[in-house]
Amino acid sequence: MTPIDEIKSRLDLVDIVAETVELRKSGRSLTGFCPFHSNTKTPSFVVFPETQTWRCFGACADGGDLFSYVMKREGSDFRETLENLASRAGVILEEATPQQKAKKVEQEQQADLLEAAADYFHNLFMHAPQAQYAREYVKRRGLSAETIRTYKIGFALNRWDACRTHFDTQGYSVKELLDGGLLTHNEDKGTTYDRFRNRLMIPIRDVNGRYVGFGARTLEPDGIPKYLNSPQTDLFDKSRLLYGLDLAKRHIREEGQAVIVEGYMDVISVWQGGFRNVVAQMGTALTPQQLQLLKRYTKKFVIALDADAAGIRATMRGLEVARQTLDRTAEFRFDPTGLVREEGRLEADIRVVMMPEGEDPDSIVSRDPAEWKTLIDQAKPVVEYVIGVMAAEADLNDPKAKTRVAEQVIPLIRDVENPIEREHYWQILARTLRVDVQALQRLQVAKKGGRVVAPAKPRPVVDGTKKRRQAPPPPPPPARILNSGRGRSAAVRKREENFLRECLDNPLLVRRVNRMLSEQNAPILNEGDFSSSEDQALFGLINHQQSLGRVAPIIEMWDSLDAILQQRIRNLQAQSGLASNQTERRVERLVLSVLDWRQEKVTRLNDELKQLIHHARIEGNQTLVTTYTKEQLTLVKQLQQIYRAKGAMSAVARRRSEEKI
Ligand code: GTP
Ligand code: MN
Repeated sequence: MTPIDEIKSRLDLVDIVAETVELRKSGRSLTGFCPFHSNTKTPSFVVFPETQTWRCFGACADGGDLFSYVMKREGSDFRETLENLASRAGVILEEATPQQKAKKVEQEQQADLLEAAADYFHNLFMHAPQAQYAREYVKRRGLSAETIRTYKIGFALNRWDACRTHFDTQGYSVKELLDGGLLTHNEDKGTTYDRFRNRLMIPIRDVNGRYVGFGARTLEPDGIPKYLNSPQTDLFDKSRLLYGLDLAKRHIREEGQAVIVEGYMDVISVWQGGFRNVVAQMGTALTPQQLQLLKRYTKKFVIALDADAAGIRATMRGLEVARQTLDRTAEFRFDPTGLVREEGRLEADIRVVMMPEGEDPDSIVSRDPAEWKTLIDQAKPVVEYVIGVMAAEADLNDPKAKTRVAEQVIPLIRDVENPIEREHYWQILARTLRVDVQALQRLQVAKKGGRVVAPAKPRPVVDGTKKRRQAPPPPPPPARILNSGRGRSAAVRKREENFLRECLDNPLLVRRVNRMLSEQNAPILNEGDFSSSEDQALFGLINHQQSLGRVAPIIEMWDSLDAILQQRIRNLQAQSGLASNQTERRVERLVLSVLDWRQEKVTRLNDELKQLIHHARIEGNQTLVTTYTKEQLTLVKQLQQIYRAKGAMSAVARRRSEEKI
């Protein structure tokens, strides 16, 4: 048994959910209001004790197991959740490799040192006579005593050895102080001295509140650099940090929105003004890692920009990053020439708001908090913003310039999930450029970024499929006596495991399977296809590798893998799988297997829904009946799609075997 299974066998999802959600029995299941979206009318959240799974049939349309539930609730990653649940369940996790352990210890010590340093600087700020000017400066900028405490604002003395002497007497070695970035080394003279001198110290914490570095502001009007940051270390990695996230994360989730500003002082000031869902980039453009971090809490982002050209360029880059990083839904359609095309839509709402000329969030909130709120509420959907910026810059009498604008904007429009909204933007773009909508839509714009697995070449629909599409969908399979929930999920697990085992050796199989799934008009593989969280994590890893074009077996990156994944891989490889020597039909077989297990899962969900509908009827809760019935319709459609794909595939196989004869 893996530690995950062990944990799951000791903890009951129902108990964990019941900690924060009031659950009522409804047949075999329990229902309540979904903790992940705000709705107090329809209890669309269901826990299934038998399978230990949960699902929101409302706005979230999401579900999973114990781990995914806790990850979502706590906003923690897989590792953190594992450690948390393991300690709750009294399960001892296998230790990481010695190198990993050593590194972790070292990082923890460094974080402790930095926390001590933050206290040291804060103390100086509060009490040292030399900090008088700093205190006046902060007062002039309007920070309250509480804000100063919350952000632990500090001051570094104007000396070359104050920090070193202080920590030397505390028993820290010069190496530790250098590694932590508190000291700087002068190669020529062979001396070390305080990095931060006569600066306002802003401690930077990671998402978990660990102290990882400093942003140190000059107190001189034209001091250079304005901000001196800690040097890059494993702990202080600017591309992975968002300033203020430790405090903001709870509020971001509650408000369902994250506001991203440019500066440290902006975060502090906006927080003090009562708006707490704010984080700042770290003086660099938004990175994929920062977005990964943020999207644990929300999929709605407002980017608040200072009004300068650099800011606009940075935003455009940031948007490109966002488009490549955030989740997509797989969508399929037949374009006018009859080609099947997969178009992943961005599952995120990105808005942009530009600060008035010469202002930043800090100056606005300091003047009038209400003004900040108005500005944020007016943030424009990114497409509108980009059309506006680009059109203002381009000469719209020049057809080439028009084309360039269109090429920049069209990928953004194609990303919009909601078809009505999408249509709206096509219209705006057409009107702005004064060209025909259809002409725009025909413009072929290359897809950038690797997130969307596009079919290698759109290929004509096979004749058989075309005919079949017009024929009525095949009838659902006859009702059969079902295994118990658990028996059936064991069979599904087996299929998933076989699949993973093969892809571990050959990550590119994922791409080939995706291509065939797309050809069959079925969604490409995603983490949700796998039942357990560790397998979701494993698939995520494989998928990431293949998206980078890596063909090497996952085993080759063994040392960098999380111990829990190492264990899972060992476990998978120990079990004997299907004979995988027949490579010829391998992809086809895998695709069929994916379709099979999807069918099992949808069928199971459908059964559960039937029960829920039955109970909602008995209780006379018509809204619930409607909600569930709507969901059931989607499931039936999904099932039909699966049958169709399976049918088409077996037809292809049949034809191929006939050709051989
Ligand atoms: P104030 O000018 O005190 O209001 O600070 P601010 O936070 O508003 O800074 P500003 O808008 O000038 O810059 C935005 C962010 O860019 C800062 O918070 C820093 O993260 C970064 N930044 C600004 N100047 C420098 C610099 O000289 N060096 C580095 N490394 N980063 C800087
Ligand atoms: Mn500022």
